[in-house]
Amino acid sequence: MNIKSYLKDKKKEVDEYLDNLLPKTNKFPAQLHEAMRYTIFAGGKRVRPILCIASFQIFDSNYKKVLPFASALEIIHTYSLIHDDLPAMDNDSLRRGKPTNHKVYGEAKAILAADALLTFAFQTMAESSNFEDRLIKKAIFNIAKSSGYSGIVGGQFVDIDMEGKDIDLPTLEYIHTHKTGELIKTSVYSGALLAGAKDEDLDNLLKYAKWLGLTFQIVDDILDEIGDKEELGKNPGKDNHYNKFTYPSIYGIKKSKKIAEEYTQKSKNYLAKINADTSILNEISNFLLERTY
Ligand code: IPE
Ligand code: IPE
Ligand code: MG
Ligand code: MG
Ligand code: MG
Repeated sequence: MNIKSYLKDKKKEVDEYLDNLLPKTNKFPAQLHEAMRYTIFAGGKRVRPILCIASFQIFDSNYKKVLPFASALEIIHTYSLIHDDLPAMDNDSLRRGKPTNHKVYGEAKAILAADALLTFAFQTMAESSNFEDRLIKKAIFNIAKSSGYSGIVGGQFVDIDMEGKDIDLPTLEYIHTHKTGELIKTSVYSGALLAGAKDEDLDNLLKYAKWLGLTFQIVDDILDEIGDKEELGKNPGKDNHYNKFTYPSIYGIKKSKKIAEEYTQKSKNYLAKINADTSILNEISNFLLERTY
């Protein structure tokens, strides 16, 4: 399997699904629908939906069934990006290679478009009838937990609260595992859960995804220091500008890269415990460690 073409194919399928799913721009209020679509289709690697699909495929080959959940995960992620870029938060002007949502639609409308995306994600999952109700309820419960106060919002809150303050390592780890790690963890988990994976496999996948999620943000922090603006599609150097504590600000680039490698290995050790073909997740882990965007 060629991982580059796997990522490309799955991104295309997710994009097509999202295009059919999201409200159309010929319906009132057209500009709201346009703003919701704007950041979704500005670009993006589609990491979370692809993790959900790849995890599903370990236990069930009919992955199209999970597209509503995979797409919902991307929609939640995109809402979090729009809010993250707001002047009150990271005050960013570039996202996915385009002006940020609030630069185009203004702050009030960007906030509302993001709110609409977040709620639409849950509407989409609740509407799905591809799985037993019991599984759908459990997946939605876990995705909600990973999105709210015990997930993205909790991490983002502490991230903002700690700007410019001295921070200890457990607090930095809390920020990273919550603002970013939780959604990645729940993407892997919900894919396998909906495919009917047994508890022991789910447990190993959760451990795998915990280290993968933390590593993802460490690499994001490294790229903020050494990444290329064009390739990243966002402005580098923002963490330093806002006095954010990050792995590179504490350990330097070289040591942070070592930590990312070590955590990726740690993460992959849990995949090896699963008695099924986990090679796609393994390849995705390598890609996420070595990515330059
Ligand atoms: C960026 O996520 C924000 C973080 C949670 C670190 P991605 O690097 O997945 O951004 P896109 O979706 O590809 O734009
Ligand atoms: C944000 O982390 C994670 C989110 C929940 C959106 P960052 O603030 O480092 O993400 P980027 O670098 O702006 O994408
Ligand atoms: Mg941020
Ligand atoms: Mg940011
Ligand atoms: Mg960043």
